[in-house]
Amino acid sequence: MAAAPDAEPLREGVALTARDPVFRADPDACYDQLRARAALYRDAAYGRYLVTRYEDGRQVLRQREFSVDARQSHPDSYLRRLAGTGVAPGVGASAYEPPLVLLDDPAHRRIRLLMSKAFTPRAVAAMRPRIELITRQQLAALEGASEIDFIERYAGPLPTRIIAEMMGLPAADCADLKRWSDAILQGYDPARDAATQSLLRDSYLAMSGLFRDTLTARRRAPREDLISAMVRAQESRDRLSDLEIISLCTQLLVAGNVTTTDLMGNGLHALLQHPEQLLKLRARPALMAQAVDEMLRYDCPLTETGRVALTATRVGGCPVAHGDTLTVALAAANHDAAQFPQPHVFDIERDATAHLAFGSGPHVCLGAPLARLEGEICLQAFIARYPSLRAGSVPPTRRELPFFRGFARLPVRLV
Ligand code: HEM
Repeated sequence: MAAAPDAEPLREGVALTARDPVFRADPDACYDQLRARAALYRDAAYGRYLVTRYEDGRQVLRQREFSVDARQSHPDSYLRRLAGTGVAPGVGASAYEPPLVLLDDPAHRRIRLLMSKAFTPRAVAAMRPRIELITRQQLAALEGASEIDFIERYAGPLPTRIIAEMMGLPAADCADLKRWSDAILQGYDPARDAATQSLLRDSYLAMSGLFRDTLTARRRAPREDLISAMVRAQESRDRLSDLEIISLCTQLLVAGNVTTTDLMGNGLHALLQHPEQLLKLRARPALMAQAVDEMLRYDCPLTETGRVALTATRVGGCPVAHGDTLTVALAAANHDAAQFPQPHVFDIERDATAHLAFGSGPHVCLGAPLARLEGEICLQAFIARYPSLRAGSVPPTRRELPFFRGFARLPVRLV
């Protein structure tokens, strides 16, 4: 690999995650440095290569010679420290099925196909009136407030309520679901401690227990909801096992939760930082769908994802060995000037749809249409309700969880 053109030492390990304050404050500066240097950057501390260029990242996500299964990687790899494999040891094989996003073919193809039948664009579009209603209720609960934490009072609770509604779970379960979901996300922190791991395991078991009970109830008395649709899919030729349904439900709840919260939080923050863009959006609300894609590109909620090389190969001309872990830095790819001119400029009229915020290839986000719809409806309603919306009296704080980029607190003045 070529020598660094600059004197500043390159970051590695925890310093290349949101746990590090410098990286957290400005990941683009670090990614720009790595992207300019070479196609692959070896992060020796975490035993992985970072892919920061757009076209290389897209290729890695689309090619079957790169697996999502951490068990294919070297024993001390970064991927093995993360999510699914982190849950498994404490839960036991009979209660754990890897989520869709960590399955290769043929299991991935079979489950994804069945799931796509239940999670159709029509089913998502049919959610519009329910999402609008839930949004109105959430806004009504803010009546009389002059300053709020946008995450706590709006962007945090909404995605849980919406996916729970789609699954046919009662609103009363939402607080538990959100709490468990946040605990399970800690599996994406490679530096998590034993207490966090134990809370993660308990939360996973509690959430799976709720889904197991709901599954039994829907089998007895089906309804018009996603869990009933999954039960119906069990009756087809390529049936889903109970454990596969439970794992899917858990993943939908966890994957569709903080990511969508962060789309709204990061998106609103970008608008407040660029008042001329907010004004433009107020004047032309029809720009909202396009603006949501620019928000996803500009401040990407899921900043990275992992793959393992199943054969010796090359990425961007650089050699990769069998078993090597690659981190595709989606946030870095989305700021590659080779794909997006003036990448650090936030421009809601840009055509940003080629961004990698939802991934690409076989694992591309199953919930993307839902996330986009939620982003559009919830942000539009909030902006329209508060014409003099502006930054709050205390500065926002970013969350420290690696992998997912968003705000812990985003204070905003409403009136
Ligand atoms: C703005 C919000 C969201 C973002 C940024 C996002 C991002 C992503 C990304 C990048 C992937 C691919 C990961 C990889 O290739 O390794 C993915 C996969 C997935 N997402 Fe999303 N997601 C969002 C919302 C949702 C929602 C709302 C749901 C469902 C309710 C969902 C369900 C899934 C599922 C099931 C997968 C796995 C698909 C597969 O492996 O075939 N996501 N998401």
